[in-house]
Amino acid sequence: MNKCLVCESTFSPFISFGDQPIANGFLKEEDFGKEYLFEMKVGYCDQCHMVQLTEQPDREKMFHDQYPFYSSLSNHMQKHFRSEGEEIFNSYLNKDSFVVEVGCNDGIFLQYFKDKGMKHLGIEPSSNVAEAAKEKGINAWSTFFDEDVAKKAELEYGKADLVFSANVICHIPYIHSIAKGIESILSDKGVFVFEDPYLGDIIEKTSYDQIYDEHVFFFSAHSVSTLFSRHGLELIDVKKIPTHGGSMRYTLARSGAFEKSNAVNEVLKHEEELGLTKFETYEKFSKNVENSKKNFVALLEKLKSEGKSVAGYGATSKSTTVLNYCGVGPNHISFISDTTPMKQEKFTPGTHIPVKSREYFGQNTPDYIVLFAWNHKKEIIENEPGFEGRWITYIPDVHVF
Ligand code: SAH
Ligand code: TMP
Ligand code: ZN
Repeated sequence: MNKCLVCESTFSPFISFGDQPIANGFLKEEDFGKEYLFEMKVGYCDQCHMVQLTEQPDREKMFHDQYPFYSSLSNHMQKHFRSEGEEIFNSYLNKDSFVVEVGCNDGIFLQYFKDKGMKHLGIEPSSNVAEAAKEKGINAWSTFFDEDVAKKAELEYGKADLVFSANVICHIPYIHSIAKGIESILSDKGVFVFEDPYLGDIIEKTSYDQIYDEHVFFFSAHSVSTLFSRHGLELIDVKKIPTHGGSMRYTLARSGAFEKSNAVNEVLKHEEELGLTKFETYEKFSKNVENSKKNFVALLEKLKSEGKSVAGYGATSKSTTVLNYCGVGPNHISFISDTTPMKQEKFTPGTHIPVKSREYFGQNTPDYIVLFAWNHKKEIIENEPGFEGRWITYIPDVHVF
């Protein structure tokens, strides 16, 4: 039995992915054999509806001065965050507002507020990406956000009118300290807006690759509303967004500060229909994941027996779960193309597939390529009009296109 990180009830895991390495732990050959592994299991707490990892590596193993994920490498994500900044500004802020971002990475979201000359602060523990933000003139502290950091930030800059966070809140197991910190720094009419991969999409698309060390929580409107209401924050709006393969944007404020939009009740109802509040849904998901694995391995075996060459596109953190869970290594996939300099000439965590540049891919075009960065499909297909081979995906099921 495991204890819920939110409400401390006990629950049993519904799936195990076996031993998994650090998902963003791309490594050099001399470090093979020294990798940290942990058994990755996921459970559902029927008391507070939170789907969660039962164990997570120490945060310093995941977020440090060599964190290889740079948000601004995707042009589509740059556009997404610019228009999101604009939308939030028009709904809730003015030029004198103070904006705090939890996990600002290389400054992709704060850039918009910096350009408007507004007071802002990014809090980002991975110092290499925080440095990239500072180089763009963004005000950032390189530390982990929590209740104490929120107090320090308030002492220095005052109350925040917006606390924003994208793809970060789901990473943090000490969630009550985060919620307390946000509640304390928010101004009376301040809003807390955050977005994360949405549990409903993971269940509907069998996108089990969203499950990896960094993602400790898989949020729904049910679990978010239950969690933050313990801290006096009310879910006032939700919006479905397409990023990262299907996400949800949650807007919260002090209870009673704003009227609640109809969208909240609609999403809650949709979640009941999807079965997100029933254990059986997760048992079924677990079966779908097993089938996905069988089909993926069978396809790669078939291509191998036919003598076809297969590579990968996007050495994503998500792919670490797929490769390790399916037992797929350099025997099946000769290399993975990725534009991140920090990943190139290294090997994938646990499975040791070489990561190569986009130029290398151009000179070594395979017959088939597995689209590991499936959430960037539109941008990638646009970028690769000359590729004459076939693409493989495993979302929502294993197929060639
Ligand atoms: N917001 C960006 C980056 C997401 S990656 C985007 O959406 O593209 C997750 C980020 O969360 C990493 O940069 C990591 O360093 C940061 N992070 C992890 N724990 C954190 C914490 N306690 N406080 C602030 N940031 C944290
Ligand atoms: P993500 O799915 O976690 O956002 O990671 C995407 C990875 O894919 C990241 O390592 C960068 C890489 N990538 C490419 O190699 N080419 C591309 O065109 C895009 C959009 C991403
Ligand atoms: Zn719980």
